[in-house]
Amino acid sequence: MTLLKVDQLSKQFKQHQAVKKISFSIEEGRCVALLGPNGAGKTTTIHMLTGLLRPTSGDIQLYLQGKQVADRRPHLGYLPQMPVFYSWMTGREFVQYAGQLAGLSRQEAERRTEEWLEIVGIQDAAKRRIGGYSGGMKQRLGLAQALIHRPKLLILDEPVSALDPIGRRDVLRILERIRQETTILFSTHILHDAEEICDDIILIEQGEIAVQGRLEHIRQSHSEPMIMIETLNEAQAKALEIAIRNKPYVHHVASEHQTLRVTVSNLEEAERGIMTEAVQHHIFIRKLEAGHSTLEDLFMKVVRA
Ligand SMILES: Nc1ncnc2c1ncn2[C@@H]1O[C@H](COP(=O)(O)OP(=O)(O)OP(=O)(O)O)[C@@H](O)[C@H]1O
Ligand SMILES: [Mg+2]
Repeated sequence: MTLLKVDQLSKQFKQHQAVKKISFSIEEGRCVALLGPNGAGKTTTIHMLTGLLRPTSGDIQLYLQGKQVADRRPHLGYLPQMPVFYSWMTGREFVQYAGQLAGLSRQEAERRTEEWLEIVGIQDAAKRRIGGYSGGMKQRLGLAQALIHRPKLLILDEPVSALDPIGRRDVLRILERIRQETTILFSTHILHDAEEICDDIILIEQGEIAVQGRLEHIRQSHSEPMIMIETLNEAQAKALEIAIRNKPYVHHVASEHQTLRVTVSNLEEAERGIMTEAVQHHIFIRKLEAGHSTLEDLFMKVVRA
């Protein structure tokens, strides 16, 4: 069942159009990643969904049991990209305060605070002032405040990007647990995180949706034969890129340092062709691997196009 429907949503900041007529739906119970490079329009989109920013045009509707709701805000939980806390409050006080702000009674807020502090794993620090919390602890605290009122849709803006690998893993584990009960939309520019826990992805680039759909489906439909070639150095990689980029068997070439990733129409033909070009141009091939493109290759292709 559809929980959120976004139709032709746009945001114009003076000269700059940050979001350009994007449309998508979020189905109940799913975990959706809003992917895109820096400046793609993820935060702007999220600000419009949460009601922090007025859209220039377009429509956002939330449905509960199939019925449209007039004010979606009480049904949303939100963790901003750069959350700010009252550093003099303790973690427990803050979560409880968020609960009461969301309309819970004092007793109910107290009860749920203990529950959520435990789920996010900061009950031991609950009595300490937030000013002394690490980045990972603040992120967990942010999750607890976003979830205390049992929102239908949890919206997280880059919940793991600022964390170290351990903090990242911990927060992803918490999200995995939460997703059993709550629909989640989270933005990230790290594809790997999306692949780990999401069902659906929406990839935006320069304010437009470049790719959207079920992760599995996208993975299959965008998988192309691909050859990875490692040359001696960056200059050689560039030279090989120039030599092969207009060949009929090459769909797309991307080079990074001494490595080329080439999506091709036919692996055998391309392998032979590339080897011939390398010999002719005195390019030394250190490694050549034939396989299929990954979601990361698709992401890079869309973002760099
Ligand atoms: N208040 C504003 N006024 C003018 N331009 C803005 C404003 N907020 C965002 N922008 C511009 O809109 C574009 C999209 O920004 P946004 O913050 O939504 O990107 P993002 O995808 O969240 O990026 P990041 O990964 O860096 O967080 C950028 O070019 C940004 O400079
Ligand atoms: Mg952002």
